[in-house]
Amino acid sequence: MKGIVLAGGAGTRLYPLTLVTSKQLLPVYDKPMIFYPLSTLMLAKIRDILIISTPEDTPRIEELLGDGSKFGVKLSYAVQEKPEGLAQAFTIGREFIGDDSCAMVLGDNIFYGNGLNHKLMDARKDAEKGTATIFGYYVQDPKRFGIMEFEKSTDNDRSVKVISVEEKPKQPKSNYAIVGLYFYPKGVSDMADRVTPSARGELEITTLNDMYLQQGRLNAQLLGRGYTWMDAGTFDSLQKATDFVSMIEQYQGMTISSPEEIAYHMGWIDDEMLAKSVRRYGKSPYGERLKAVLEGKVII
Ligand code: DAU
Repeated sequence: MKGIVLAGGAGTRLYPLTLVTSKQLLPVYDKPMIFYPLSTLMLAKIRDILIISTPEDTPRIEELLGDGSKFGVKLSYAVQEKPEGLAQAFTIGREFIGDDSCAMVLGDNIFYGNGLNHKLMDARKDAEKGTATIFGYYVQDPKRFGIMEFEKSTDNDRSVKVISVEEKPKQPKSNYAIVGLYFYPKGVSDMADRVTPSARGELEITTLNDMYLQQGRLNAQLLGRGYTWMDAGTFDSLQKATDFVSMIEQYQGMTISSPEEIAYHMGWIDDEMLAKSVRRYGKSPYGERLKAVLEGKVII
């Protein structure tokens, strides 16, 4: 399975912060925002990842992440000339995806919770068998998101049956937002070709999800209590994300979404590679916690 981090967009909601830098390079407490979505794909054991961003920001992101070898993954880069919609990622990434299944995560989406890796692996397996997966998360302001309506009672505790999906509905049918993480079977680029622009002129991911729903090939998993999902695209949510990460990392002393740590636990990088990163990060708290991982103090 391939993975895409979509890290473009104008970032106007964060002006003047994003006038000369990429939103996805801004700090969420102790690390750049893009470390979080990258880590999420890595938790699904995805090691071939395309990062899509704007013409200006792609070189900066590449400068930070490089070819991915320090994270035990292969990173490549592509440019989205204009932010014409999330579904466009799959046409931009057509060659990269080839005949494979593909997951996509938005560059400003942060996920946290014990057992997330199992949910991701379930979604991955379903995509490899031909069924797409979206994830639902309870929100208080459903008009701001893609929203899923689903059957409440289910004998399957792993997924719920989706009835409808709607982008930023005026009258939301539920309070469950469709988060910015999607798993699709092979052929997603061809499906994305058939997405036509919405009333707001964008190639909506929700239209793509609806196509899978109409074909009976859309699963949904709920991220319930015990999971945290944040989209850090506004001042308010960026601040909240920073507070959340700092609280957990300082209180518990473990790092949220460190690609180096995940790579090490997965066995994708060895002691020497991790030691190199520890040296690079020096005395920063991120570096210190990575050192504890290298010394074998952090097991999971
Ligand atoms: O965060 C989850 C929500 O993300 C979903 O619930 C919605 O269904 C989905 O449409 C999306 O809504 P947003 O209003 O958050 O989309 P936004 O236009 O803000 O774009 C999300 C991120 O993707 C943002 O970091 C910018 C980036 N982006 C956006 C577009 C439209 C791109 O890189 N390229 C694009 O063409």
